[in-house]
Amino acid sequence: MRKKIQNVLILLGSPREDGNSTRLAYAFADAASRQGHRVQSIRLPALDIGPCDGCRQCWKRASEPCVIRDDMDSVYPLLLDADVLAFATPLHFYTWSASIKRLTDRLVCLGPDFKRNLKGRRSLLFAAAADDRPAAFAGLKATYRLVAEYMGWKPLGEVLVGGVEAEGDIARAKRALAKAEALGTRLS
Ligand SMILES: Cc1cc2nc3c(=O)[nH]c(=O)nc-3n(C[C@H](O)[C@H](O)[C@H](O)COP(=O)(O)O)c2cc1C
Repeated sequence: MRKKIQNVLILLGSPREDGNSTRLAYAFADAASRQGHRVQSIRLPALDIGPCDGCRQCWKRASEPCVIRDDMDSVYPLLLDADVLAFATPLHFYTWSASIKRLTDRLVCLGPDFKRNLKGRRSLLFAAAADDRPAAFAGLKATYRLVAEYMGWKPLGEVLVGGVEAEGDIARAKRALAKAEALGTRLS
């Protein structure tokens, strides 16, 4: 049976251009590209994405996703076009980075109760941390899983790598890189 080509959007949350979480997500992205999927990645820290101000205008005017005019104007269409959303983040104070937090807060206008929503997307999480205890990822995992559940996403996998601090440390994490690659290869 032929594979369905998927639109994959990688949301990079590291302030480092060539960070550990980015390299991890690229192992997935490269494998998915080799399978013929359309893969696009965006570096969230390079964008002007303001915080949700809680105005709730989107709850009243669902035809206009958000009243704030910034780079989310170009990110919303990418999110809506995507079949697969892959979050890549460093662990920052035991959760995902500020740029991913800003993005996810701005998803309130695409929540499950709106006509325009992100239900049915599939999602992945790639993360890197200095702390090598599995428990260090507890907050991040809970946040990601609850966000995915709320938004109506089907989680496809998580690759969480502890014990990596300096840029490039991820190269040592061969099993994790192979797991990320396998997730890309298996994507269908
Ligand atoms: C602001 C900041 C907060 C951090 N908080 C944590 C933390 O809570 N737990 C941890 O294990 N590592 C923490 N780290 C270390 C990073 O998670 C680690 O260096 C990771 O490999 C960075 O990934 P990146 O290269 O993708 O940015 C923090 C680093 C920074 C700069």
